[in-house]
Amino acid sequence: MLLSITQYGNPVLRAVSAPVEHVDEAIVALANNMIETMYAANGIGLAAPQVGENLRMVVIDIPEDEEEEEEKSEPEMATVNGELRPIRELMPLVFINPTLEPYGKECPFTEGCLSVRNIRANVSRPERVKATLPQLDGSVLEIDCGGLLARCLQHECDHLDGFLFTDRVSSAGKITLAKKLKKLAQSY
Ligand code: NI
Repeated sequence: MLLSITQYGNPVLRAVSAPVEHVDEAIVALANNMIETMYAANGIGLAAPQVGENLRMVVIDIPEDEEEEEEKSEPEMATVNGELRPIRELMPLVFINPTLEPYGKECPFTEGCLSVRNIRANVSRPERVKATLPQLDGSVLEIDCGGLLARCLQHECDHLDGFLFTDRVSSAGKITLAKKLKKLAQSY
């Protein structure tokens, strides 16, 4: 079932979300609906507050690099529970109650968000992440990664604490975005 995606200005995006205490049928259904909604919107990640639920749950699906050029043919890898694996094998990734430890040097990258329409902006974040990601079946993924997955994990987990990528742009960037954001907030 497709869910409607909450938009900038909606207070649900600004709340600190509660942990998922029990994985029941409703949580599993919500996860499946979030995945379907993410695919339909051509997104690579979606956090529960973005579908109106202040719960600490996220879905991610980073597609394989479409440009299979010679230099880009190496798949993106991550250490998963001590083993180096292509991240593709983890997708779609669903987790609850994550713990993130970003590290490494800060890197700029252009981000967008399904809850902030028509705005993309440069955001600096640490380039790597150590993440503890409890799964719906009770198992836990310990991931150490860089690249787009590290970026996406930080962006999505920010949603669980009421932060949006627009909060993370430089002061100059914020001035540039101010008018557009004001408009979005008025029209959500
Ligand atoms: Ni987002």
